[in-house]
Amino acid sequence: MSVNKEIKKITTHTIQEMKQRGEKIAMLTAYDFSMAKMLDQAGIDILLVGDSASNVMAGHETTLPITLDQMIYHAQSVVRGVERALVVVDLPFGSYQGNTKRALESSIRIMKESGAHAVKLEGGAEVADSVRRILTAGIPVMGHLGLTPQSIYKFGTYTVRAKEEAEANKLKTDAVLLEKCGCFALVLEKIPAHLAKDVSSSLHIPTIGIGAGADTDGQVLVTHDMLGINKEFTPRFLRRYLDLYDQVNVAVKQYTADVKNKSFPNEKEQY
Ligand code: KIV
Repeated sequence: MSVNKEIKKITTHTIQEMKQRGEKIAMLTAYDFSMAKMLDQAGIDILLVGDSASNVMAGHETTLPITLDQMIYHAQSVVRGVERALVVVDLPFGSYQGNTKRALESSIRIMKESGAHAVKLEGGAEVADSVRRILTAGIPVMGHLGLTPQSIYKFGTYTVRAKEEAEANKLKTDAVLLEKCGCFALVLEKIPAHLAKDVSSSLHIPTIGIGAGADTDGQVLVTHDMLGINKEFTPRFLRRYLDLYDQVNVAVKQYTADVKNKSFPNEKEQY
């Protein structure tokens, strides 16, 4: 399907309309200007400045170490590359949990200092008051349920969530609560496809799935995973669209050889 050129800028209203007319929403992560520009020009609907930057950009094992200042730096770079997409920024670990005032202040800093369009946070009932408080400042909030990587030390593993009835029921209740609180969309990460389908059809707001099957209103992947920059991560849900790691490897080997055998630069490549 080609990019809808009629849409000049994607807003939270646009993605609500997409759900209503059954048009799937495409979301990817971005952390820097150049990648954001490529993804935006290619017609992506939502760019998520994910706290996965902690893994992908900084090489940490989890998303926990990344700071609010670092998220703002990434968000500023992404916003400068974007003309059309909606830019959503993750509130990092420690910038909102257990403190609604801090949640509001962190969200205001993200919006004011980066120019992004919305924030995302992880959790259900535990963060409901924070969602409400952030919304009092007119800041759109995206929720995130299922596998919530900021709680990795509570879960213990990155395995599929909500397979048991009790956790599935809590997830359904949390989803409805987040919609009632005013979230404009909801990420559902690594949960059974039938549960994601149930949740998606019971909500008015769009759901964006990652490892949650085909019946969510949209899909999100980490760009470095789907482009094959990161080779080690091979979950079942991931579709690789490129093998950039291998292609870069070939290109860099060739460049190194060209420099060493003095075939680069040639006469046309100099002044
Ligand atoms: O940080 C991130 O990249 C995310 C997506 C996996 C949804 O939260």
